Amino acid sequence: MTKRVAIFISGGGSNMVSLVQDMLSGHHPAKPVLVLANNAEAGGLKKAKEMGVETAVVDHRPFDGDRPAFEAALQAELNNVQPDILCLAGFMRVLTEGFVAPWEGRMLNIHPSLLPKYKGLNTHARALEAKDAEHGCTVHLVTPALDDGPILGQARVPVLQDDTPDSLAARVLKLEHRLYPAVLRRFADGNTARLDL
Ligand code: GRF
Repeated sequence: MTKRVAIFISGGGSNMVSLVQDMLSGHHPAKPVLVLANNAEAGGLKKAKEMGVETAVVDHRPFDGDRPAFEAALQAELNNVQPDILCLAGFMRVLTEGFVAPWEGRMLNIHPSLLPKYKGLNTHARALEAKDAEHGCTVHLVTPALDDGPILGQARVPVLQDDTPDSLAARVLKLEHRLYPAVLRRFADGNTARLDL
């Protein structure tokens, strides 16, 4: 049975585009049923509509810090489309245990570092700061602890002498667009073996 996938975004949604394009490319165990953004200006919303995927917006600002109320609104949108899998893709809001717990084991995220290194923000600058020889991205199952769940896949790049946070981020983002679709394909088929690109 084709798995139903909802994707949460906050910005340009380049990872969402990669996931949707792969799902729509045929012979895929999953299909996109919703792209949801936490702000109406997210560039990914237009891209999702152009690809024929249903969209929704749940702006976090009117909830004024009441996370459970914001998350109840998110869950209400999900109830409308009944997804089997939830993918966070450039989603920049922290989700509480209350939201995550019912999704545990069915919720994926992509993070721009080789976890467990550099949880949180500014990962590329931190890798450069540490003079790491390599850097990369990780797809993991989401648990209540931030950027901490079981790893489903990683992809690595060498850090170059003249790298800046922006040049490194751009190279990692290209890898994200390969890693996330590859991991989702396997995950939707019930394969949770770790994939290293
Ligand atoms: C990417 O670096 C991704 O790793 C992080 O959010 C950034 C933007 O992603 N999660 P996207 O272009 O909005 O998919």
